[in-house]
Amino acid sequence: MLQNVVFSDLARELQAKAREIAEKHVRPNAAKFDKAQEYNFDAMRAVADAGLLKTWIPKEYGGVGAGVLALAMVTEELARADSGFGVAFAVNALGSFPILLGGTEEQKKRWLPLVAKGEKLCAFCLSEKGAGSDAGGLAVRAEQDGADWVIRGEKKWTTNGGVADIYSVFCVSDPTSKSRRISAFVVEKGTPGFSIGKVEDKMGIRTVPVVETHFDGVRVPVDNLIGGRAGMGFKHAMMTLDNARPGVAAQAVGAAQGALDLALVYAGRRKQFGAPISSFQMVQQMLADMAMKTQAARWLVYSCAAAVDAGEPEVTKIAAMAKCFATDTAMEVATDAVQIFGGYGFMEDYPIAKCFRDAKILAIYEGTNQVQRMVIARNLIKETEKLAHLDKYIPTETQERYGAPSLA
Ligand code: CAA
Repeated sequence: MLQNVVFSDLARELQAKAREIAEKHVRPNAAKFDKAQEYNFDAMRAVADAGLLKTWIPKEYGGVGAGVLALAMVTEELARADSGFGVAFAVNALGSFPILLGGTEEQKKRWLPLVAKGEKLCAFCLSEKGAGSDAGGLAVRAEQDGADWVIRGEKKWTTNGGVADIYSVFCVSDPTSKSRRISAFVVEKGTPGFSIGKVEDKMGIRTVPVVETHFDGVRVPVDNLIGGRAGMGFKHAMMTLDNARPGVAAQAVGAAQGALDLALVYAGRRKQFGAPISSFQMVQQMLADMAMKTQAARWLVYSCAAAVDAGEPEVTKIAAMAKCFATDTAMEVATDAVQIFGGYGFMEDYPIAKCFRDAKILAIYEGTNQVQRMVIARNLIKETEKLAHLDKYIPTETQERYGAPSLA
């Protein structure tokens, strides 16, 4: 699938606003917030005021309906200044996609306009201590009690937890079922029994909180069951990830571009042997490779996002490819950027150390890159039937030994 990528005027406009906010509100404070491990509320307010939280939300629910391609472009710009802030933005899409993709009309009308206006931020509660890559192996339980559902258990690695108001929570609603075991619920901040547990002390993306979320008999009405039907949760989670992975991939493109920008400026300034290090061919080769990989990742991400927007039926594989390639690229580019900064790059006084720390999580969250490769391979193998006509061109073992018959 090679999707035609068309950049609408609206997408360009949103991208330009994101770039402005990134340079004005995000970059100048990134080191400070990273050190203190604090969230930049002022910058997120600026994002909301500029209407950027409307990007992926359709017009009928208070958004601008600019789609996943525009979401990727905005995320990239914010992540270019601070990768943690990039995910602090994109996780609002991740947390609201279950409602957007699987919710009832009433649920969409109730929650999405609040997200679009920036009145409510979102989080996505799938992972648990014992269920990371094995997203189906959840233990958090939801039991029906009259007209309500009661949720018990703990979620792990909830990005935006504490800051967010709306949590999409995936729970086991029918432990006896294999394929209809899981349901997703909206839990709002302040619901009795819902609390934030351990706040993680992280290696990178320190400007966005990642926490444990605790559900101690949290009672929600049946209206909060996403889609209004139990047992649809795993499908909703997978559909969400297909739509959200271009966003995390875009965060990676922004992170890679941000590291490359800094390396370029430094390489032009730093002198050794009486000349800027950017005049040395080995440094030039590194810079060229970093730029090539970042650009290749960008086009894969844009093409994937455009495919999602076009409603292509089989986006799972390309979403996994974009996520995997872009996030591996971000780590490679950040590593080379530290190398260009040399000894200074290893020091926290210089901004490139943060880029390096921030890059590592990208190949882990929203599905490890091992899971992405497994998803890609599974889909490739499934599609092999389209290649059945090639079979006759590959000799069997017997033909190889005794000579292939003429294919004419
Ligand atoms: N879309 C729709 N349905 C899908 C689907 C998709 N992309 N992928 C699978 N399904 C359906 C299958 O059709 C199947 O349905 P039936 O039971 O009706 O046949 C069902 O889901 C089960 O599918 P699988 O057998 O493929 O499931 P599996 O147990 O082998 O797991 C997996 C597949 C790809 C490994 C999945 O568990 C997975 O994606 N794991 C990674 C989890 C992940 O990404 N976590 C990230 C958490 S969020 C986060 O990190 C964000 C953050 O902090 C910022």
